[in-house]
Amino acid sequence: MATPPELKALQDEARGRIDAAADADTLEAVRIEWLGRKAGRLTALLKSIKSVPADQRAEFGQAVNALKALVTRHLASREAELGAGTAARPAVDVTMPGRRLRLGRMHPITRATREMVEIFGRLGFACVEGPEVEDEWHNFVGLNIPPAHPARDPLDNYYLTDNALLRTQTSTVQIRIMENHPPPIRVVAPGRVYRPDTVDAGHANMFHQLEGLWVEQGVTFADLKSVLTTFARAFIGPDARTRFLPSYFPFTEPSAEFYFSCLLCGGSGCPACKRTGWMEIGGCGMVDPNVFEAVGYDPETVTGFAFGFGIDRAAMLKYGVKDIRLLFANDVRFLRQF
Ligand code: DAH
Repeated sequence: MATPPELKALQDEARGRIDAAADADTLEAVRIEWLGRKAGRLTALLKSIKSVPADQRAEFGQAVNALKALVTRHLASREAELGAGTAARPAVDVTMPGRRLRLGRMHPITRATREMVEIFGRLGFACVEGPEVEDEWHNFVGLNIPPAHPARDPLDNYYLTDNALLRTQTSTVQIRIMENHPPPIRVVAPGRVYRPDTVDAGHANMFHQLEGLWVEQGVTFADLKSVLTTFARAFIGPDARTRFLPSYFPFTEPSAEFYFSCLLCGGSGCPACKRTGWMEIGGCGMVDPNVFEAVGYDPETVTGFAFGFGIDRAAMLKYGVKDIRLLFANDVRFLRQF
């Protein structure tokens, strides 16, 4: 059994060894030497308590346990000192791989719009924009759409007030540009339009159109066909073909619907084009003289053509997207593919 002076000597020795440890490994060796489970010097002393005569056991046990507590505490504070003071464990591990920056990318509609505007730019068309909240003059009256026309039904429009609505077509920009600029005019106008349609795979309440307008002396339907065919070849591929079927729009006369050869099968016929080989893209025609009169142009001196089509639809055909709702769901799993 160790005497109190012997215990005090052990305590001093342990403290000396702990203070002298210059790094974490040395300190760990000291800990094992003194408190190691199997052969630690204090561990042996603790084990010896039970063989001390009963009348001295309590006192001795207390003294040894106090010594153990002291040494343990001293080990811990020295460990903290070493940890804080050395470069062995820096706060930042510079060898760790960095966190990769997730780059965003262009929305397919933005991408398609820019590509279209760029193609028409090469054909001499400037890009202009108009407001999404419109009045009846620009959305209907100036475009030769009379009050009784079914397109003006309140149920087919998002009216905000009696004379303000969300535009249903980008044709509004035709009126705005001609009101403010004398001919010649050669512009395209991309933008959002709004219709209270029932939403399904092919319809959304908000979608995008691209409007085109060329007004000058001597512009003909042949120019219209040539421009749209050139566009189709640039947008789809050099083998693209176009077709024009007679149609009716209040603001053009004559009017036509224009088709591109199917973007998926190239015209041989597939389920996507209902085996016709053609896909309907939009409407077009020669600007109606009533429209020229509405904006103060002389229909006897200028002629022009206009066209309009859905950007979303054209982009869906080109990129093979089957449901328009995917374009507006903001799901990055979908958007990442573009
Ligand atoms: N604005 C028409 C629509 O939304 C599309 C259209 C047809 C535009 C003929 C035109 C045009 O410029 O000439 O259905």
